[in-house]
Amino acid sequence: MIRKYTFGTPLPTDAVVMRLPVQSGPVPYFDVRNGEDGSVSFSLALHPEEVIFGLGQAVRGVDKRGHRYESWNSDVFNHTESQPSLYGSHNFIIFFSPERMLGVFLDEPGRIIWDLGYTRCDEAVITSVSGCLDLFLIEEDSLTGIAHAFRGLTGRSYLPPRWAFGYIQSRWGYASEQEIRTVVSEHRKRHIPLDAVCLDIDYMVDFKNFTWKPDAFPDLRQFQSEMKEDHLRLVPIIDAGIKVEEGYAPYDTGKAGDFFCKKEDGSDFVAAVWPGRCCFPDFLREDARRWFGDLYRPLLEAGIEGFWNDMNEPALFYSDEGLADAFATADRIRAGGVDYEETWWLKDAFNGMANNPEDYRRFYHLVGGKPVRHDRVHNLYGAGMTKATAEGFRRFSPGERLLLFSRSSYIGAHRDGGIWQGDNFSWWSHLKMAVQMLPGLNLCGFLYTGCDLGGFGCDVTEDLLERFLQLGVFTPLMRNHSALHTREQEIYRFSSWETMRDTVSVRYALLPYLYSEFMKAALRDGMYFRPLVFDYPGDPRAVHIQDQLMLGEGCMIAPVYEQNAAGRYVYLPEDMLMIRFRSGQDYDLVPLEKGDHWIPFAPGEFPLFVKKNRAVLLCSGGESSELLDDARFTVLGQIERESVYELYRDDGRTAAPDLENSLTKVVLSPSASLQTVRDIP
Ligand code: GLC
Repeated sequence: MIRKYTFGTPLPTDAVVMRLPVQSGPVPYFDVRNGEDGSVSFSLALHPEEVIFGLGQAVRGVDKRGHRYESWNSDVFNHTESQPSLYGSHNFIIFFSPERMLGVFLDEPGRIIWDLGYTRCDEAVITSVSGCLDLFLIEEDSLTGIAHAFRGLTGRSYLPPRWAFGYIQSRWGYASEQEIRTVVSEHRKRHIPLDAVCLDIDYMVDFKNFTWKPDAFPDLRQFQSEMKEDHLRLVPIIDAGIKVEEGYAPYDTGKAGDFFCKKEDGSDFVAAVWPGRCCFPDFLREDARRWFGDLYRPLLEAGIEGFWNDMNEPALFYSDEGLADAFATADRIRAGGVDYEETWWLKDAFNGMANNPEDYRRFYHLVGGKPVRHDRVHNLYGAGMTKATAEGFRRFSPGERLLLFSRSSYIGAHRDGGIWQGDNFSWWSHLKMAVQMLPGLNLCGFLYTGCDLGGFGCDVTEDLLERFLQLGVFTPLMRNHSALHTREQEIYRFSSWETMRDTVSVRYALLPYLYSEFMKAALRDGMYFRPLVFDYPGDPRAVHIQDQLMLGEGCMIAPVYEQNAAGRYVYLPEDMLMIRFRSGQDYDLVPLEKGDHWIPFAPGEFPLFVKKNRAVLLCSGGESSELLDDARFTVLGQIERESVYELYRDDGRTAAPDLENSLTKVVLSPSASLQTVRDIP
């Protein structure tokens, strides 16, 4: 059951696809308070055993209780434990205690503060700063039921093409066709599977969107077509800002159509990002989205089938006004004399220029023809860019699924694209954080996701990359990405590249199976990754597990995320079969009993646990997702009673797949053997 309550005058967000009547009368569960500043707060006493799931992209554990978060899409380079917000705002949580199971969604694109047992450990207080929102309460008789109902409310998750489940190599700094050919050949000659290479901003002329360097990429269409013969795709980046430069077509046409966000005086708002001073498309306007979506056309015509959208919180390095203010502060300090304290003010004046709250109050969008100040709708900006892009894709190739993942998002954008987890570091703690973020993202609808494997910032170490890749084997987006000036982290740079290649080979052996699990989860409004308690609601141990996740219908993952760990503790909520992988062909099959186990995992080893009477299918061979044999499988499982595995197979690209007609029912007969080879035509 979903109930909707409205406060003030909410702005349209497009997050919800279901029409519901607005309830009158008091909101159950919550104490509702109107602040003198116009805010509205919802508070609720927490049961001592209550856990809180959700919030999508946020730091800390699977259980969000015990901290204070903010919904405020932010370009944050340092994902520390105290970071209140990251790049997306995913305003959905589930309260779960012996007394209650309640889903809560706040549909409001302004700032929201989630005090989840922080000020008082026995109370949750959710505050909408604007006081204008739609509040949805979801009650079902299971956690998965709430997740399913929420997806019904907000719409089906985005479906990427099948090749997007392949391994993707990326790095900020690849500057030419030649460099990319080298990256590809280093993979191919070592038989490291690879499906795509990302083009970061360096492919553009002066970092200007929708351009590519003529010397470095003399014939992009030809280059992409050659790559495709080798079963590879190029995935270019597009940023939100359009460089202010007369004669540059996206600027000229944006200006001619008046599609940029405006300041109060009606002039275009200007702030710097990678290309220097930029204007910002008003993605909240349908006509501006159409214009922007059409800008992808030349790249699509060159054969590009996937993009990543970035800097769309929007990230603002500094505005004209912010820069002037900082100089004024500097002049004032210089004139007044500099002592110890003043040097701090000086530093703050310049460091504080980026993503300054003042700047987000300097510009306006047109919503329904009326100007709305940016901070009221801040969290919708990235989602608007995703929508513009997806609408453009649908106009260009209506029947096809193209790859799209964005940095910034809001619920609703999960229908049009995936997201990546942003600029993490090559830190062991960030590997753990990546694991813990996955179920919240899935709950909020973002199924196609993953982190920068190896870590984006800082220098990776060989063992850390290896463990990151082991997690990446299971995340729908499996991309190795790193920042300019950090240690190069392509697999082939390391002495243990063979071990890492073998890890990637597990992904390819599992690819048809993981794709099948993903598609069924997406098409049935389910979750691909879940906290354990979603499957074992009556198990008091499962509730608190923070570092293991259920995957698909029948599996559980328990990644190793600690340096120099020779293994790890794993809690099994029931008897399971452990597949301890070393490669797609080399693994141990170990039946284990319900309970706690310490299990050794040597550097190249990692597990997948399978419930009884469920199966995992391994296919053979292939260095690209297009070269896999998905008609003959090794079926792994402990089958004690006759069961059926539904294998989802389609052409991997149709925009409107037919679930029922894409399922092959694989009958699993009771057997003493843990593996059988099956032809599944
Ligand atoms: C941002 C992105 C990162 C990208 C960089 C340069 O930091 O998050 O992935 O590599 O910009 O484009």
